[in-house]
Amino acid sequence: MVERRPLIAGNWKMNFDHLRSIAFVQKLAWTLKDAKYSAGQVEVAVFPPFTDIRSVQTTIESDRMEFAFGAQDLSPHDSGAHTGDISGEFLAKLGCTYVIVGHSERRMDHHEDDELVAAKTRAALLHGLVPVVCVGETTEDREAHGASAVPVAQLRVVLESIAKDSDIVVAYEPVWAIGSGQAATPKEAQEVCSALREEIAAVMGNDAAERTRVLYGGSVKSQNIASFMREADVDGALVGGASLDVDEFSRIVQFPKHIIA
Ligand code: 13P
Repeated sequence: MVERRPLIAGNWKMNFDHLRSIAFVQKLAWTLKDAKYSAGQVEVAVFPPFTDIRSVQTTIESDRMEFAFGAQDLSPHDSGAHTGDISGEFLAKLGCTYVIVGHSERRMDHHEDDELVAAKTRAALLHGLVPVVCVGETTEDREAHGASAVPVAQLRVVLESIAKDSDIVVAYEPVWAIGSGQAATPKEAQEVCSALREEIAAVMGNDAAERTRVLYGGSVKSQNIASFMREADVDGALVGGASLDVDEFSRIVQFPKHIIA
């Protein structure tokens, strides 16, 4: 059986200018060093706004911090007349490991549909970035179709458009749980994450399903992270609000202490 290294990812959304981003990663590094954090046990990634990425890159690289970083979005195009868009090629040059695609806030604010999310996923892979593919149901979706149907259908469109050996991360983020303080229960998260893994197995094969990390996101805090991480199909978390507070985010990263204890 493949060991999936847990990933704790902080999606800063539209918060922190580049100066604050530098201060944040520096403080995060000190705090986790004090806590004897080991990157081998839990991977940490931050997702700053585009304008912060260069600052985050130089801070992380110059101090050899063990954090990964990525962008919150990318263009489906490689270059050209697309004013305001950012190519995956530029993100790869900045040392990004990851890029978020299909976050529900982009699906809503920018009318991104499953086809566009699939195109962005392909663009990420083309440039050597690992896409963090976000899926999740609204309250209405859940009432009409149950919890898993919409996230699984959203993921299917992406999976069917990429190579079977693609390296991706999937993030299950129920829309009703984002920023609401109302997280899914660990059982609810497990049910959908397991259905997503089954979908990966169906489209990309068992090996892909075994190695692909599936994260939960939506009102994750230090108080509830361990309960999610105990679930078999939850391999990490995509954290929004709680990733903006260094102490809280570092407590989330240290969740294994609460599982082993
Ligand atoms: P919150 O953790 O603030 O609920 O946000 C989750 C999220 O959208 C992460 O991408």
